[in-house]
Amino acid sequence: MHIRIRRGWEIPESMATPESVFLDRRALLGGAVGLAAASLAGGPAQAALPGSGTGAVATADLYPAKRNEAYALDRPLTEERYSATYNNFYEYGTDKTVTPASNALKVQPWTIKVDGLVEKPFEIGFEDLVRKMPLEERLYRHRCVEAWSMAVPWTGFPLAALVALAKPSADAKYVQMQTFLDKAMAPGQRAFFYPWPYTEGLTLAEATNDLAFLATGVYGKPLLNQFGAPLRLAVPWKYGFKSVKSINRITFTAERPKTFWEALQAAEYGFWANVNPAVAHPRWSQATERVLGTDQRVPTLIYNGYGEQVAGLYKGLEKERLFA
Ligand code: MTE
Repeated sequence: MHIRIRRGWEIPESMATPESVFLDRRALLGGAVGLAAASLAGGPAQAALPGSGTGAVATADLYPAKRNEAYALDRPLTEERYSATYNNFYEYGTDKTVTPASNALKVQPWTIKVDGLVEKPFEIGFEDLVRKMPLEERLYRHRCVEAWSMAVPWTGFPLAALVALAKPSADAKYVQMQTFLDKAMAPGQRAFFYPWPYTEGLTLAEATNDLAFLATGVYGKPLLNQFGAPLRLAVPWKYGFKSVKSINRITFTAERPKTFWEALQAAEYGFWANVNPAVAHPRWSQATERVLGTDQRVPTLIYNGYGEQVAGLYKGLEKERLFA
């Protein structure tokens, strides 16, 4: 007998679950999910969404950071109650209700390893790193490959500042970023068919573009676990899967790194993954997106509306599969 288990990435979220059904289902499942999470985390599940997670890290005094008005939005911010309850974080489950399970993520202490083609590899504690960096708030759009979107106020620092701290050598062409690997802390990592740990990568030119941002907070406070605490990438001109969460290793390489989704399904999720409404996913259109917290669909924009800042990065690379 052939049993085919459909995996999370095989259907677009927009086709999978209309929000009303999703919300009803969440109300129904709330109790069961909460119980499961409590046993995983070894403690009681947080009752209220979105307030779970380990927001109260040692750097809480740094928030809210001053907003950089250069990064403005063309749409309203998504309310936290929507963005913090509808997350992709496969380490904690393949549906969007990862919040209770992600309580198991321990973000203190947290060390980030910087290695590969750099002047001198080093490890740095998260708190030390954040206190060295120029923290600011930026309002960014976020467009998931599943055709939903949100707009959130990230706090963090330019990835370029970390690149400068790392001092890559002249041979370094790419930056690879990795999520932690800990099956005890992240039950999703027990699923053997995924190429854990979650890995993403950018070219050095992309990583040093002004828009590439390492987020440490959102909505004026440290990141809640479900957003990828304590450190996650935000590259708003690319599909959301490029924005790797809970980073604990940053490696400079000469070769293009193989990414998590590329390793799983290269024909559908490539290295570049720049947003383009005219290039459909093999199984669904990318022309429009559903805005989280609303029942609106709006047109998707090339480079998610950030073309002016990033289109130049791709001159001479037109033969590459830039948009998938
Ligand atoms: N990073 C890790 N480690 N694991 C994940 O499952 N999902 C990605 C990205 N980063 C993911 C991840 C996807 S598909 C998206 S759309 C965004 O995180 C979702 O970010 P959000 O939950 O903050 O909206």
